[in-house]
Amino acid sequence: MSAEESRDGGTTLPPSWWRDGVLYQIYPRSFGDADGDGVGDLRGIVAHLDHLEWLGVSGIWLNPTMPSPNDDWGYDVSDYTGAHPELGTLDDLDALVAEAGARGMRVLLDLVPNHTSDRHPWFQDAIRGRDARFRDYYVWADPAPGGGPPNNWESNFGGSAWQLHAPTGQYYLNNFLPSQPDLNWWNAEVRGAFDDVLRFWFARGIAGFRIDVCHAIVKDRELRDDPAVTPDDHPEVRRRAVKQVFSMNRPEVHDVLRRWRAVAEAEDPARILVGETYVLDVDALMPYYGGGEDELNLAFNFLFVHADLDAAEMRTIVEAVEAKLPPGSWPVWTGSNHDAGRFATRWAGDDPRRARAALLILLALRGTPFLYYGDELALPDVPQDAETALDPVARRTGDASRNRDVCRTPMPWTNKPGGGFTTAEARPWLPFGDLAACNVAAQRADPGSTLHLARDLIALRGEHRDLTVGAYDSLPAPDGAWAWRRGLGFAAAVNLSATGVTVDGLSGRVLIGTDRARDDEPVAGGLRLGPYEGVVVALAP
Ligand code: NOJ
Repeated sequence: MSAEESRDGGTTLPPSWWRDGVLYQIYPRSFGDADGDGVGDLRGIVAHLDHLEWLGVSGIWLNPTMPSPNDDWGYDVSDYTGAHPELGTLDDLDALVAEAGARGMRVLLDLVPNHTSDRHPWFQDAIRGRDARFRDYYVWADPAPGGGPPNNWESNFGGSAWQLHAPTGQYYLNNFLPSQPDLNWWNAEVRGAFDDVLRFWFARGIAGFRIDVCHAIVKDRELRDDPAVTPDDHPEVRRRAVKQVFSMNRPEVHDVLRRWRAVAEAEDPARILVGETYVLDVDALMPYYGGGEDELNLAFNFLFVHADLDAAEMRTIVEAVEAKLPPGSWPVWTGSNHDAGRFATRWAGDDPRRARAALLILLALRGTPFLYYGDELALPDVPQDAETALDPVARRTGDASRNRDVCRTPMPWTNKPGGGFTTAEARPWLPFGDLAACNVAAQRADPGSTLHLARDLIALRGEHRDLTVGAYDSLPAPDGAWAWRRGLGFAAAVNLSATGVTVDGLSGRVLIGTDRARDDEPVAGGLRLGPYEGVVVALAP
């Protein structure tokens, strides 16, 4: 085995911007408001690209930017080749791609192929009659014998997944809101139309897509009932009465993913596909990488997102992924997003020590880290009432714990009125949290801040090839702690418990600690870690 092979675990991976770099998710309505209407926009993102360059990210994923009536804040698309007027114009998007490119960053858009808005021209035509030109672009079915919905499928947003269209006497499928009718991916024209959408954006310089509910797009052709959940199912699966094995997660989805990958690979340079693969089982996740290089480039790991910040639980997931990834494929790790909430709250319970340890984990594992805007500050969720929620899930279910507004609040750039996000006079579309307690300017000025920790960890990855592509190997660690080696020369260790521990068998030097006073500390055989402390160590040769 050559030195290069031993460093990356046997796979010789060529340098690549998306494997080697750190990616950053932006909720466009909440990053920067250039026109002062309280809603973030594309030009507002451009105005803050310097922050991302300083942080060291290689690419950004923008939550939906296409025209939409906003029933689900952009995840109800009414035109796949436009820009949402509230966010700007296609020219603004082109400018964002160019300005990001000038700073060495690529731009991924959000593609929503599972459903359209009910105001999309395809659906507006489809409801004209059973013979309408675009009728078969959607999933229609007759009522069950004796009446009622065709089967027992449940919407992810509560209630039946079927909506009766009385004028034509058939039900249409909606796995989310009734105003988000599911497309029929058995229809060849739908497939062709989306190939064109991909190529349209690739021609504009988009580096790839995050693909919304990409595991869900193909449904069982016979529309068979989903089975009941069982006590063995993951808690997130048990939130519903049925397990979604026929309403989504069908094997035929892989034909579509292979087709899209071919479209993406035909570009020069090749573009990438990042899937929202919401499956809560490593064995179910791996097939979304296909043979390793012919389906998704990255498949989000929701088992990890929904894990507790617990050493044994997280290590078990990481080890399973490392053992099962198809050859040539690459892990992706994330702790926050616009649905699941922010890790500073969910994982870390708003304890800065735990949030810093979480950042160190994300940035020291083998795989591409995705940070959600504000993660670099350990920005917490901002609690809000369900009654006044803008999130349709909170409104529909009345369940405050499902209010996604809490993690979509504006980026706190400063402690001034408007928070550096919008003008002092404007009312932001969602409220700020505690601007004084957490903002970019204050953390920039403080070398001990979480922001500097995030930046320094990202820079460290960039300096050492072992910390990007080096193999992951678990190391022995006491209960409550987790340690792993990266390549031959580096290790990371975190104590996720409330009591101090010693990790034996490590010698070298601390490169970065979550307690920055430990940077550069020598390590000789045993590493003492305080509660919720983590370090990256350069191992002695
Ligand atoms: C997943 C998206 O992340 C979420 O925000 C959206 O509501 C649903 N898909 C429906 O598109």
